[in-house]
Amino acid sequence: MVKILISGMFGHMGRNVYDLAKDDPDIECAGGVDLREGDVDGVPVHAGFDGVKEKADVVIDFSSAANLDNVLHYAKKTGAGVVLATTGYTPAQIEEITQAAKHTAVFRTANLSIGINLLQKLVAEAAAFLGDAFDAEIIEKHHNLKKDAPSGTALMLADSINQACGNQKEYVYGREGIVGARKKQELGIHAVRGGTIVGEHEVMFAGEDEIITISHSARSKRVFAAGALRAAKFLKGKPAGLYDMKDVLSEN
Ligand SMILES: NC(=O)c1ccc[n+]([C@@H]2O[C@H](COP(=O)([O-])OP(=O)(O)OC[C@H]3O[C@@H](n4cnc5c(N)ncnc54)[C@H](O)[C@@H]3O)[C@@H](O)[C@H]2O)c1
Repeated sequence: MVKILISGMFGHMGRNVYDLAKDDPDIECAGGVDLREGDVDGVPVHAGFDGVKEKADVVIDFSSAANLDNVLHYAKKTGAGVVLATTGYTPAQIEEITQAAKHTAVFRTANLSIGINLLQKLVAEAAAFLGDAFDAEIIEKHHNLKKDAPSGTALMLADSINQACGNQKEYVYGREGIVGARKKQELGIHAVRGGTIVGEHEVMFAGEDEIITISHSARSKRVFAAGALRAAKFLKGKPAGLYDMKDVLSEN
């Protein structure tokens, strides 16, 4: 049995995680944390981590990048593992996560779906295979409530392409005005926002007279909630360290 605490419990993802956890015999939701106090089906939700009395093996965080210090502080204080699913961290915060992982088990990914994990591998392979002859561009689409842009997943895909190309890429976020001809090392990243789109990622490799497109479409938020529970089960009892979806999938 894995006891979880959901950070961002009243949010879209927090509720999805709670709903899935309710029906999972290997998971018990001990409580939640959000900006205001309350409960879900009698499970207490605290305003901040200070009031949390329930014991948890793993904190699942789907709140906001601004909440990072609080999540890491709680994890260090209690020894709980932490699944960081929130996106939009600054480079300084990513360094903070790396440091925290020396003391506690931290799982972090910008995308909890298995499909995106595969997409990451495929785009790296395609970029290495195609080399400079093809121009890579990433187009991501999300709902109109998403706060950060481009998506953490788009950046994760960009990093995979960049690594496969010897870290020579220059990220270009959208284009406007007289930008001139596209430079070979550019890697375009474009964010589209609208309606209730759950999450679409398309990587296009455009060459002379041919285009290869590799894409992924998330059809519901449940896919991310299921990934979060899978990560929580993986993390229970793990030593300090930084883990990601590859570790989870390879253990299975
Ligand atoms: N890794 C993934 O696979 C994945 C998938 C979906 C969403 N996300 C990310 O998860 C995050 C949440 O997404 P969402 O759609 O549920 O957003 P949301 O706005 O619906 O929910 C966020 C919740 O967190 C709460 N919150 C915000 N700041 C807080 C704080 N300082 N302390 C406590 N609670 C706080 C809000 O009150 C809200 O209830 C976003 O960063 C999103 O990009 C990641």
